[in-house]
Amino acid sequence: MKIIILSSSLNKKSRSLLLSEYAQKIILDQNIDCTLIDLKKYELPFCGEENANDHKNCIHIKNEIESSDAILISGPIYNYGVNAVLKNILDLTSKAWEDKPVGFMCMAGGQASYMSIMGFANSLMLNCRCLIIPRFVYALPGSFDDETRNITDNSIKQRIEQLCEKTIQLGKTLSKG
Ligand SMILES: Cc1cc2nc3c(=O)[nH]c(=O)nc-3n(C[C@H](O)[C@H](O)[C@H](O)COP(=O)(O)O)c2cc1C
Repeated sequence: MKIIILSSSLNKKSRSLLLSEYAQKIILDQNIDCTLIDLKKYELPFCGEENANDHKNCIHIKNEIESSDAILISGPIYNYGVNAVLKNILDLTSKAWEDKPVGFMCMAGGQASYMSIMGFANSLMLNCRCLIIPRFVYALPGSFDDETRNITDNSIKQRIEQLCEKTIQLGKTLSKG
């Protein structure tokens, strides 16, 4: 059983990366294999560029996704949607996502973008037949201490814990089938 976490923010001071790190710790503490891929560490071509799919980083990430039983995504909301980094990695590796459970941890500037993930979730469901995990983390800047780089809001921590629990449960169940 293996869970992969894709963190899509390119911001050095990313708060969504903190959500990923918190989730990874919870999963590893249960002795479950969990790889965190911080996408800012990977130079990647844009989908559609010549030989983009043969790029070594693209192959590496595709293999990581393919070998996982569940995927967690964390990243920023940009203009009422996921950022281009996440869309690009899906476009580059979409075959590897097929039939996997996928959960979301979103970082946004305000409450109004709460449903912004749905366009991306729909394409995962319709194009990749992913199972969308019915637990959702949506965090705002007030839930963090930016100086110490900690999540200070216990309700966000609890939501991540619940998401991880569901992800583990679904990942285990589906990997047996
Ligand atoms: C280009 C851009 C577009 C954004 N669009 C939205 C938006 O539509 N809704 C929202 O709530 N926040 C929006 N934000 C705020 C980010 O979601 C917020 O800064 C978040 O902390 C970014 O996540 P990160 O810290 O992991 O990079 C936007 C920020 C940028 C830079």
